[in-house]
Formats: sequence, structure tokens, C-alpha cells
Amino acid sequence: MSRVRTAVLISGRGSNLKALISACAKPQFSAELVLVISNQADAAGLRHARAAGIPARIIPHTEFNNRESFDAALNAALGDADVELVCLAGFMRILSEGFVLKWQGRMINIHPSLLPSFKGARVHERAIESGVRISGCTVHFVTPEMDSGPPIAQAAVPVHAGDTPETLAARVLEAEHRLYPLALRMIAEGRVRLENGRAVFSGYECADDVLISPRE
Ligand code: GAR
Repeated sequence: MSRVRTAVLISGRGSNLKALISACAKPQFSAELVLVISNQADAAGLRHARAAGIPARIIPHTEFNNRESFDAALNAALGDADVELVCLAGFMRILSEGFVLKWQGRMINIHPSLLPSFKGARVHERAIESGVRISGCTVHFVTPEMDSGPPIAQAAVPVHAGDTPETLAARVLEAEHRLYPLALRMIAEGRVRLENGRAVFSGYECADDVLISPRE
């Protein structure tokens, strides 16, 4: 079985990277992690790559004069490792349009809200302020406009009355760790692809369960 050569780009803690490493460690999993790139030399998540023996590269954005030259270095590193698919996992850099278009349909991101709600930063604080009763996370294809690409998979969690941004973030993060491996598998198995600006699925059924918050 040939596995899809996948890179994960991080900037910090790397708990989603860890979840992807665990998923890819299963023999039947259709993707393999061949490269981790961080733009931060001290990203805590790099230790997960090292522990798993996955090549890790640090490409500090501060060493480049502009976005395009940083993205060109990213692109070269991905090319050197024959990467076919890119997963952004807490990668806190905006990517240039040229880079995004080059990887369109082959680059995915996880965002800690039910997009298109709460794009951008301070997601959990804004979700609580808005009064929504359900939040969650989204894995989506990356397109030039930030947090706006077509969703591939979403997971919902309740927002509790006493939630703080921290307690909600922790609940959403648990869902992220289940969702990202699922989305990666769907792409690696060829069951979802980007077509005319939409995620198109084949051979994938999802459950019809309903999440209601608050419960009766
Ligand atoms: C995750 O919650 C991810 O959804 C979020 O950053 C966190 C990274 O955590 N990403 C974004 O907000 C992107 N807009 P991790 O480093 O432990 O995976």
C-alpha cells in the first residue's frame, strides 16, 4: 500500500500533530508523516516529531524579508521531502496567495470553531460572548482567504453556561484530536477532494446523530 506523503506545519504546542502522529502510526493508515516544519525554533510540538523519528525542520519566518520568500523556503522544504499533502496544525502564519494556490486541494487546516462562524483569533472568547450554545472545530481545504475554504469535516461540542475560554478550548481541542485524523484519512483515501470550490465526497457516510445543547 502506498501511503500519502504528508507534512505537518506547526508553530507551537503541537497537540494536533501528536494526534496525527498516533493515527499515522497505525499500519493500515493511508497517510505517512514525512516532515514536520515549524516557523518557531522553540515550538513545544517539535518534541513530538523528534520522539516519533519524523524529520523536523525549523524555518524561522523572521529570517526572511517578506512573506513570498518565506513561503518559497517552505515550498522548497516540502519539495525536498516529496510531500504530497500539507496539514496546518496551529501554524500561525498567513500564507501568500501564490503558495496557497500551488497547494490548493492538497493543503488542509484545522480551526477551533464551526466555520464560517468565528474566523480568525480569540475564537472561544468570541463564541462565549456571542451566546452560542454549540461550538466545535472544522477541518477545511485552505484557500487564499483565511479560514474560508470548504469544510471537509466538523465536530460539535456544547457550550456550557459556566464556560470560560479555557474550558471551552479544552473541550474543542479534544474534538480536534479526533477530527483531524479522520479528515486526513478521508483525503488520503481519496474519499474527498476539492472541486469547483467545494469539498466533494465519495463513499463516505456519516452518522445522523443530533447534538442538542443544553440537554433536556
Ligand atoms: C488548535 O486549537 C488549532 O485549532 C488552532 O490552534 C491550536 C493549535 O494547538 N488553530 C488556529 O486557531 C488556526 N486559526 P496545537 O498546537 O496543540 O495543535
